[in-house]
Amino acid sequence: MNTAAVLSQFQAAGVETCFHDRHIEPQIYAGLNGSNWSLKDYEARGGYQALRKMLGLGEGAEAMTQDQVIATVKESGLRGRGGAGFPTGLKWSFMPRQFPGQKYLVCNSDEGEPGTCKDRDILMFNPHIVIEGMIIAAYAMGISVGYNYIHGEIFQVYNRFEAALEEARAAGYLGDEILGSSFSFQLHAHHGFGAYICGEETALLESLEGKKGQPRFKPPFPASFGLYGKPTTINNTETFAAVPWIIRNGGASYLACGKPNNGGTKIYSVSGDVEKPGNYEVPMGTPFAKLLELAGGVRQGRQLKAVIPGGSSSPVLPAAIMMECTMDYDSIAKAGSMLGSGAVIVMDDSRCMVESLKRLSYFYMHESCGQCTPCREGTGWLWRLVDRIHRGEGHPADMDVLDSVASNIMGRTICALGDAAAMPVRAMVKHFRPEFEALIQKTNPQTAASA
Ligand SMILES: Cc1cc2nc3c(=O)[nH]c(=O)nc-3n(C[C@H](O)[C@H](O)[C@H](O)COP(=O)(O)O)c2cc1C
Ligand code: SF4
Repeated sequence: MNTAAVLSQFQAAGVETCFHDRHIEPQIYAGLNGSNWSLKDYEARGGYQALRKMLGLGEGAEAMTQDQVIATVKESGLRGRGGAGFPTGLKWSFMPRQFPGQKYLVCNSDEGEPGTCKDRDILMFNPHIVIEGMIIAAYAMGISVGYNYIHGEIFQVYNRFEAALEEARAAGYLGDEILGSSFSFQLHAHHGFGAYICGEETALLESLEGKKGQPRFKPPFPASFGLYGKPTTINNTETFAAVPWIIRNGGASYLACGKPNNGGTKIYSVSGDVEKPGNYEVPMGTPFAKLLELAGGVRQGRQLKAVIPGGSSSPVLPAAIMMECTMDYDSIAKAGSMLGSGAVIVMDDSRCMVESLKRLSYFYMHESCGQCTPCREGTGWLWRLVDRIHRGEGHPADMDVLDSVASNIMGRTICALGDAAAMPVRAMVKHFRPEFEALIQKTNPQTAASA
C-alpha cells in the first residue's frame, strides 16, 4: 500500500488528530486545530512567556536561577513520557553543572513503540512548545547545543520542526544571546534511521554520531558519557512539551492537574478495537473506563477482552483488571503492567491472543540489534514457539518453555529491548494460558495426549 493510501486509512479512522475535542480539562495542549502551529499562533496562546519569565524579561522581574528551574520541575511531579517514567527534575539534577567542556541536550522523537503516535502530533500541531521546553531545559543545565532526533520515516514532522526552528531563530528565541540575555542555545533537527532500537537512548546517541544504532553498556550513563562522550541529557518530546506550562504556572499547579507522584496531564494514543482511535489528553489518574468512553467505547458494542496499556512492550492486562485501573504510572504498575509511552491498545473479544502474541514476538525478533545472545537468540526462539502454536503444531510443554525462555532473557541484556520482548510473552502466558492450551489441544490432540 502506498503512503497516501495508508494516510487516508488513518484519517478515515480518525487517527490523524490534534487533541481538539479529545480531552478532559485541564488541557495543557489547548486550542490546536492543525493549522495554528506557527510562531505567531504559538505566541498568541502565550508561547515563549515561560522563557521570558525564566530570563526575567518582564518589568521588575528577576531571572530564575538554574536551581529554581530544576526545583520547579521536581515539584511538578513530571515523569519522563518516553517509557520509563523517570522523574524529570531528578534527571536534570544529575547533569554536571560545572563541567568545563561541551554538554548536549537531546530530544527523543524517535517514537518507534508500536501503538504510539503522540510525539508526531505534538511536533506537527505545536512544534514551538517542544522548542521552548528544550530552551528552558538547556538553560537549567547550562547546555549550549541540542538536537531533536526525529523518527526518520515521517518527513512531514521533520519539515515542520525545521520550519519552526527557522521561525524561532529569526525571532531571537534560539541562537546567540537569546532575547538579549547572556544565554545562548543552538538547536538542530536530525533524521532518525528507522529502527526501533534507535529510540533507546544510547543507541540514539550512537546513531546521532553517525554510527550503527546499537545500545551502549551502562554505566556510564549519558549524564556523564553521552553524545561524543560528553555529558548529555535525553528526554522524550512530550516531556519537553510539558515544561513551558510548568514554568509559567508553577510546579504545584502541574502536580495538581494529576495525582501525587504523577503530575500533569498525559497524551494517550488509543488504538485497536475502539470506535474513535486517536490521541487523547487526560489528567494523570483518569480512570481507564473514562478514557475508553472518550474513545467511543469498544467498537461495534463488543466486549472488552484485554488492554496493552503502555505500548507493545508493556504486559497485557485482562479487561477486569484494566477496568479497575486509573491511567497513571503507579496504578498501572500495581496492576502488573507499565504506563510506558501511553499507547493504549484495546482488544475486543474477537481477538486471538496467540495471533496477537505472534505478531508482537515477530516485531521484537525483527528489531533486536543482535548484540546480546539472550535477546538475539531468545527473541527468535519465542517467535518460533508462538508461531508453531498458532499453526496448530504446538506441544503442551511449549507453554513452560515459552515462560522459561522469556524469563531467561529478562535482566540479562544490554538494553531493555530484551525485557520488552519477554514481558508481553510472560503476561500472555500468565493471563491467557488456557487460550494457548486450548489451541494446542484442539489442533493437535494426539501430541497433547502423549505429552
Ligand atoms: C528498545 C527501546 C526503545 C525506546 N524507544 C523510545 C522512543 O521511541 N522514544 C522515547 O522517548 N523513548 C524511547 N525509549 C526510552 C529511552 O531510552 C529513554 O528512556 C527516554 O527517551 C528518556 O526520556 P524521558 O525521561 O523523558 O522519558 C526506548 C527504550 C528502549 C529500551
Ligand atoms: S537487548 Fe537486544 S536490542 Fe538491546 S542491545 Fe541487546 S541485542 Fe541489542
